[in-house]
Amino acid sequence: MQHVEPIGVGGASPLGENKFYPQKIKSVRGMRDVLPKEEILWSYFEDVIQSIMVAYGYQQIRTPIVEDTQLFSRGIGSGTDVVDKEMYSFKDELNGDLLTLRPENTAGVVRSVIEHHLLYDGPKRLWYQGPMFRHERPQKGRYRQFHQVGAEAIGWFGPDVDVELIVMSKRILEELGVKASLQINSLGSSDARKKYREILQNFLRKNYDRLDADSKVRLETNPLRVLDTKNPEMKEIIEKAPSVLEYIDTESALHFEEIQCFLKDLGVLYTINPRLVRGLDYYSKTVFEWVSDFNGTELTVCGGGRYDSLLGLLGGASAPASGFALGVERILALMPELDCTSQCDVYVAYDAPDRHSEALYKAMHISERLRNAGLRVVMHCGRGSFKQQFKRADAHASFWVAILGSEELDQGSISLRALCRRGNYDQSKSQQENFPLEEAIQKLIDWKKKASDEKN
Ligand code: HAM
Repeated sequence: MQHVEPIGVGGASPLGENKFYPQKIKSVRGMRDVLPKEEILWSYFEDVIQSIMVAYGYQQIRTPIVEDTQLFSRGIGSGTDVVDKEMYSFKDELNGDLLTLRPENTAGVVRSVIEHHLLYDGPKRLWYQGPMFRHERPQKGRYRQFHQVGAEAIGWFGPDVDVELIVMSKRILEELGVKASLQINSLGSSDARKKYREILQNFLRKNYDRLDADSKVRLETNPLRVLDTKNPEMKEIIEKAPSVLEYIDTESALHFEEIQCFLKDLGVLYTINPRLVRGLDYYSKTVFEWVSDFNGTELTVCGGGRYDSLLGLLGGASAPASGFALGVERILALMPELDCTSQCDVYVAYDAPDRHSEALYKAMHISERLRNAGLRVVMHCGRGSFKQQFKRADAHASFWVAILGSEELDQGSISLRALCRRGNYDQSKSQQENFPLEEAIQKLIDWKKKASDEKN
């Protein structure tokens, strides 16, 4: 075998040998692992999303993580932070293609809709979930790989469908127990926005000396973004800036008014924020954000709006569209703790002195039978005293431990011990009880059925 040089010095051998161990490889900065413990929350989140998307008639679409760089530079717009500073772009050395890890997925969904002629039989309601990549400075709630769930309604002019998207995002947040407030604004048509851009530029030029360095650059590249600066020293100037709502076209103003009528009728509270401009260039007419308090800082957990020009811009037949995306990590961080984190119904513990013990064979059979009946079963593996096995069962937050000791083996029985306090389980009756094998299995199956019925 070829000798491989150790890379770096990872430390002494745990066995005390005179050897170098390779340095540990860490995850990339700003890109996190979702560990099994968090996975419970993620699965719950995904179940809620799935059922709400279905309830509103949205169909799931899965697009690639890597796309042609042009899709984003044209779709999102150069001059935006995302395109100019945050994209993970690279050249495919094998064929010279310029590729980008998707920083968002509206452009990808629109590309797919155009490529596969999805609008041929009418408008489409689509949703997606998955990782996005932005080279931002990592901090709480801001990652370089993060996840979004998004919904795009393509082919409708609105405003009914815009309101549907807003109430759907509201339902998601409420169902997950996340507190957020709704801000809305209108950016008008592309022409109205161009006019407003000039007016804003003139205003900012007049106040040039008071602008911070970032805003001085944005004044030329993307003046609307100056409005959502996070610099508190700029607040006074921004408050005096002309409002976009004074310059929007009549059609957009009517659209915005109708949105508000629907929201009022549905009892959805909102505030109009004329400084809300969103960070991506494809928006027109209505935009909205759900904003939450994140340890004293305001962070957007969900953002979206109408993007009527994007299909045309990406080479498709022009069609109106609207959508939103929510930041999964931010939502999960704001969700209240789940009442129980159990992923295991039964932990099977047994007394097997060696690998050929009857108890081990029997434990495997019982585990399989319970799984056939739809129970989630973790069978103890390796050796260990009952005390150690109960500890493992506890670590799995199992509801039950099924115990196969020598006495149970002799009698053809199993003992059951209830562990996790939830639903129909009564702590005071948590004694271990012995049942004939078939009765014990049936008892567990009945328990599972009752628990599932109660959940539904
Ligand atoms: P966005 O506002 O750029 O919009 O992103 C949507 C959400 O993704 C944000 O509100 C935030 O919760 C989350 N997010 C963004 N960047 C990060 C990050 N670095 N770390 C953690 N979370 C982040 C869009 O992406 C549009 N495509 C939304 C849309 C869909 N508009 C119309 N349709």
